Amino acid sequence: MAGTEMYDLIVIGAGPGGYVAAIRAAQLGMKVACVEKRPTMGGTCLNIGCIPSKALLESSEHFHMASSGLAVHGVKVSGVKLDLKAMLSRKDKVVGELTNGVAGLLKKNKVDVFEGTAKLASPTSVSVTPAKKGAKGRTLNGKQILIASGSDAIELPFAKFDEKQIVSSTGALELTTVPKHLIVIGAGVIGLELGSVWRRLGAEVTVVEMLPKLFGPLDRQITNIAQRVFTKQGFTFHLGTRVTGVEKKDGQVVVTAQKDGETFKLKGDVLLVAIGRRPYADGLGLGEAGVELDPQGRIQVDADFRTSVPSVYAIGDVIAGPMLAHKASEEGIAVAEKLAGKISHITYEAIPWIVYTWPEIAWVGHGEEELKEQGRKYRAGSYPFLANPRAKTMGETDGVVKILADAATDRLLGVLVIGPRASDIIAEAALAMEFGASAEDLARSVHAHPTLSEAIKEAALGVAKRAIHL
Ligand code: FAD
Ligand code: NAI
Repeated sequence: MAGTEMYDLIVIGAGPGGYVAAIRAAQLGMKVACVEKRPTMGGTCLNIGCIPSKALLESSEHFHMASSGLAVHGVKVSGVKLDLKAMLSRKDKVVGELTNGVAGLLKKNKVDVFEGTAKLASPTSVSVTPAKKGAKGRTLNGKQILIASGSDAIELPFAKFDEKQIVSSTGALELTTVPKHLIVIGAGVIGLELGSVWRRLGAEVTVVEMLPKLFGPLDRQITNIAQRVFTKQGFTFHLGTRVTGVEKKDGQVVVTAQKDGETFKLKGDVLLVAIGRRPYADGLGLGEAGVELDPQGRIQVDADFRTSVPSVYAIGDVIAGPMLAHKASEEGIAVAEKLAGKISHITYEAIPWIVYTWPEIAWVGHGEEELKEQGRKYRAGSYPFLANPRAKTMGETDGVVKILADAATDRLLGVLVIGPRASDIIAEAALAMEFGASAEDLARSVHAHPTLSEAIKEAALGVAKRAIHL
């Protein structure tokens, strides 16, 4: 190893956690280095996660609308054809522009970026091994080190990813032909988002899920609606079903599954395994450095994001909490501000979740079953998009807004939306929860007419059993 540098902060990983922390720390006057082993910035989210998946969801929705969704509006279209190559290259272009944009932001903020694999060499130094063969490694010295190394897809031991036929989300974003039959293991966020992309482009999609419902602990009223709508869209679900084996045979993937003691086989041309992600800290030398993990393999941190080694911090997917880009970024800002001696706070209960299917699904706070489990008394109000004028004009009436508020104080405990543009609608609810608002606050706020967000107002009125338009 050659060369020594001295930094206030060395950030490992340039995902939404790491690059945001690096920029905020630089804004606060720190000398910052960021080490990233990918040649491009932005981590999982920009390269192989949020952005490429949303680009394909957007394009595939256009294809679906053009193919079969416009006639109802009196627009006749014929000869609609899929140019998958163009769709994939548009996605790559969007990714390229955004990852370059992050590189530009880091440069503008005078963050020194090092391409290579980082390893903790001591509590205050990081060795960087460049990917390029023959290139010289170096050691960076820093007062503090921040690990933002993210997460990776979980693999089934009997279904190793080849990223062509047995794919993780990464391979599912790159398929060069539309599968005839896509089998998905896991009815979670990735399974339904990427399943939607290929379903809209013409694939038959079968989802196998070990739990009896979609989306794990999410409110059952919402997941029941989701299951009904996705089934109408042509998805086939095998819920409460355990996959026991996967083999490749005659160019096909054969999945063996068990439900209620019965074994059956499914044959498809591509298998997407989307059973969750694991914190990724491989090769960082955490054991030697004395950085402790929790029983789930995540880096253990205190309320200031400090690990068991006092000069080493961690944020994002590699620590506990939801694996979401905006959560990682908020933690990046919070840790940089804490290191600069400022007070910083994240309201974890007000972090919104969004599934970008159609209809979209979005929520903040708790669902009904969770509140029951916690023994909390609540009042519920809900409002269907069928009764919302804007949704009617759009022809998008599937779904509902549901608001749960404390029975005694009326403080918001959860807002759940399944419906058109739920991703935009939820922003108001997240802000309201951040401010500790009540259902009455939402009910008394003026909502423009005709908008989808009027459904929030009506659901909030519904908490006090005084909805007007129902
Ligand atoms: P990451 O983004 O994973 O970044 C970590 C970086 O660290 C990586 O670039 C990695 O190369 C680098 N690294 C790791 N180890 C080393 C090392 N030793 N040396 C140097 N560099 C290293 N979240 C949302 O909020 N909205 C979405 O719509 C969304 N969609 C998603 C879709 C998919 C298909 C996937 C897979 C994920 C999606 N996510 C989404 C989740 C989101 O991508 C993550 O929560 C987010 O990227 C976590 O940020 P992070 O900075 O903690 O880690
Ligand atoms: P997930 O946790 O959302 O869903 C995994 C599903 O697989 C669960 O329903 C689980 O019960 C099921 N499962 C687990 N093991 C199984 C098995 N052996 N057989 C059958 N089913 C099994 O995980 P997913 O979809 O892989 O996504 C990982 C994470 O990535 C998400 O939890 C989220 O944090 C992030 N993400 C966020 C997105 C967003 O915000 N829109 C989009 C995509 C990913």
